[in-house]
Amino acid sequence: MAQATFEEISASDFFYRNRDIAGFTNPSRAIFAAIRELVENSLDAAESQKIPPDIYVRLSFEAEATKDTQIYKLRVEDNGSGIQPRFIPSAFGQVLYGSKYKLKQMRGTFGLGGKMAVLYGQITTHQAAYVTSSTGQAKIYSFKLMIDIQRNRPIILDRKVLINKDQWRGTIVEFSLEGDYLRAMPKILEYFKQTAMVNPYANLTFVDPKGRLYKFTRATTEMPEPPKETLPHPYGVDVELLQRLIQITPYKTMAEFLKYHFHRVGDITAQKFLDFSGVSPSKNPKRLSHEEIVRLMQNLKRFKEFLPPDASCLSPLGEELLRAGIEKELKPEYLVVHQRKPSTYAGHPFIIEVGIAYGGEIPKKGSFVLYRFANRIPLLYDEASDISFRVINSMNWRRYKVSPDMPIAIVVHICSTKVPYKTVGKEFIADRAEVRREVANELREVARQLQHFLSKREHVDREKKRLGIFAKYLPKIAQFSATLAGKEKLPDVDKLIKSVQKYGAEET
Ligand SMILES: Nc1ncnc2c1ncn2[C@@H]1O[C@H](COP(=O)(O)OP(=O)(O)O)[C@@H](O)[C@H]1O
Ligand SMILES: [Mg+2]
Repeated sequence: MAQATFEEISASDFFYRNRDIAGFTNPSRAIFAAIRELVENSLDAAESQKIPPDIYVRLSFEAEATKDTQIYKLRVEDNGSGIQPRFIPSAFGQVLYGSKYKLKQMRGTFGLGGKMAVLYGQITTHQAAYVTSSTGQAKIYSFKLMIDIQRNRPIILDRKVLINKDQWRGTIVEFSLEGDYLRAMPKILEYFKQTAMVNPYANLTFVDPKGRLYKFTRATTEMPEPPKETLPHPYGVDVELLQRLIQITPYKTMAEFLKYHFHRVGDITAQKFLDFSGVSPSKNPKRLSHEEIVRLMQNLKRFKEFLPPDASCLSPLGEELLRAGIEKELKPEYLVVHQRKPSTYAGHPFIIEVGIAYGGEIPKKGSFVLYRFANRIPLLYDEASDISFRVINSMNWRRYKVSPDMPIAIVVHICSTKVPYKTVGKEFIADRAEVRREVANELREVARQLQHFLSKREHVDREKKRLGIFAKYLPKIAQFSATLAGKEKLPDVDKLIKSVQKYGAEET
């Protein structure tokens, strides 16, 4: 019998072989995913400095590739933080390398997106990528890069240093890739529109291969508070994390170890927890056996008195900005937005923000138009698998006198340090009981307010109709009755109409 042969592959090689799982499924999805990943990086880079983002995206035609696909050059330019030159090659040439493996809300999570785009470009066009960046200091650095897929390392083909005369700050990424723009176009344009909706403080410009310009202008320069980094919450830890913390901790007692490495643990809580789990507060964490670490992890999850995580590591949009974004892009007649207080799943804090918009420019589609966002990223694929879609479909809308054939758009935004995505392509939110409950409560709240608005409007409409009838017939009745009674002077009906009008206005 033939012997099995074993080999190890690098992270790059893994994603090279399995690009589907990162969203690079076909030439149309790939071009969408590449744009999206680079725009997300640019938004993160600007927001981390509280700079209102200015992002310029250009996709230009280079050559025909196959019957349905073309080679395009993609260029994304931003005014974000910039990257220090020593990190540039790995940030764009080494899969699973990044600055966002932190416990705070960010769009990037895996250290993967930008590289997947570059990798896809490389394997479809065999050309290098160009990255130019400056942090606003004296110099601008420019790299020509490829990825060594087998070793998962960047290959630097060229490096230039320029004088930064104008104190430019930002990043420009440019590379070629194969794609099917025509098929991807609707999704790409929808992506920009929705990104503008949930980032109303950003200027987005997109020039497509036909030279058409799409511009989304900011409605405000107000930005949400940037998130603060947090410590792991005791309910979210596992044995691996405990072991890593024990390895690096400078603290010599369990009491200090708990207090300084975990979120929401102070002296008193640490003491109570150690009593509860029968561990001495003065025990050195480095002396814990493997069994003791496992028991510690189980007790951390069992102990009921840890306070829930606070939300300083999150950066929701807030009701005002969400309102501004929806008004700007959807132009509804009526809009109600609502933000719930923070909640948690498996030790990860999250906040749900919801908006419901009615009428105006919202089309009647026969079903609600659903806009889904996670950490200010629009989610455009796999709607039917998403938690929000399921909640909306299981709600009894008739109770709120709302029906799917009305022109209604529903916006659901989840922010979390760990958004429960089902895939690394970040397409939809998994069905978790805690998240489902929050989304459902939030939707009921805005549905109630919409119901209130609709019934008020119905009443006003009815009143208007009634007044219309009065205004039409009263003068005639006055005339007839004056003639019948043989009077010359007509009674003053204006006063009468006004008084009914006033009554109607007061009542609504
Ligand atoms: N436009 C940009 N401006 C500043 N830094 C960037 C930019 N694009 C990427 N980076 C840096 O490169 C890293 C890797 O990006 P990426 O591969 O998309 O992974 P992720 O965004 O998940 O961390 C980021 O963590 C960030 O530090
Ligand atoms: Mg990224």
